[in-house]
Amino acid sequence: MQKILVTGGAGFIGSHTCEKLLKEGYSVVCVDNLNDYYDPEIKKQNIDELSKYDNFKFHKVDTTNYEELEKVFKESRPETIIHLAARAGVRPSISDPLLYSKVNILGTQNMLELSRIYKIENFVFASSSSVYGNSKDIPFKETANVDKPISPYAATKKAGELLCSTYHHLFKIPITCLRFFTVYGPKGRPDMAPYLFTDAIYKGREIQKFGDGSTRRDYTYISDIVQGVIAAAKKKLPFEILNLGNHQTVSLNEFIETIEEIVGKKAIIKEVSKKQGDVDVTYADITKAQNLLGYKPTTNIADGMKKFFDWYLNNNADAKKD
Ligand SMILES: NC(=O)c1ccc[n+]([C@@H]2O[C@H](COP(=O)([O-])OP(=O)(O)OC[C@H]3O[C@@H](n4cnc5c(N)ncnc54)[C@H](O)[C@@H]3O)[C@@H](O)[C@H]2O)c1
Repeated sequence: MQKILVTGGAGFIGSHTCEKLLKEGYSVVCVDNLNDYYDPEIKKQNIDELSKYDNFKFHKVDTTNYEELEKVFKESRPETIIHLAARAGVRPSISDPLLYSKVNILGTQNMLELSRIYKIENFVFASSSSVYGNSKDIPFKETANVDKPISPYAATKKAGELLCSTYHHLFKIPITCLRFFTVYGPKGRPDMAPYLFTDAIYKGREIQKFGDGSTRRDYTYISDIVQGVIAAAKKKLPFEILNLGNHQTVSLNEFIETIEEIVGKKAIIKEVSKKQGDVDVTYADITKAQNLLGYKPTTNIADGMKKFFDWYLNNNADAKKD
């Protein structure tokens, strides 16, 4: 049975990825430090659910700790790496840029270095649409120049891609960098707009709308992302950078209206000025992922947010009480 090491497996995308791999019969080793960027109880709960599978093993290890990480490689001898562990989020990266560099750059290099030493057969790296910054060349293609990231987070993701390219060039490790576009769905991150807005609208609390609502995002449903991640893990492409988006954009105003319809309540909106680091538009050209991975997103925003809301109602104790 193929053994896959997933970093960040306790998180949103990681826990879904681990679950799908386990269901497909893979042996999964998860590395996560369960940090408190958001409530670690959510991550522990994800690990508890995954621990029901016999072929799952969890290590509470920080990717910036090379020695501890090496012990995991030595003990588990994985063939494939899916490296998702990172500090995510654009705005917090502006308040704590050093932490973002440490985790997203050093942590990634530790994973690459150990992949070289332990002769890993395939490496998948989670990059981000944020590397495109405010590129005017829309939809974003992988060939676009991404030398002008507008947040420390974006710069660390670009740095991760560069390290991946170097390790492929020098050591011929097959590596696929996947640029995810705003991922949402059940178990979604509590710091992201889909969760924050749904929670506030449902509970009759005010939401903060950054700017006039004309900014647009390419929201991608979690199962579509997981399909792309697992396809990349299986495919073993020599070196590629691929967009994983939905190839549809939704304005912030449309997004709020969609949630209002699903929740059945009107949002109380406070308009505040756009935050530094936020980009105007994200829009993925997914032709390359379609051609190389057979990637095919199938869930639109209304269906995806309905599934998210169902999950929210069933899993949020506060929501059940209301
Ligand atoms: N969710 C999105 O919309 C989105 C978009 C673009 C890129 N990404 C990238 O996808 C990946 C997964 O994102 P997510 O939304 O699931 O976020 P998440 O925060 O839910 O998951 C990240 C996981 O990594 C773990 N982690 C963080 N630092 C670590 C460290 N030093 N050592 C070990 N574990 C550590 C966290 O505890 C967490 O469980 C990240 O690399 C993120 O940058 C996410």
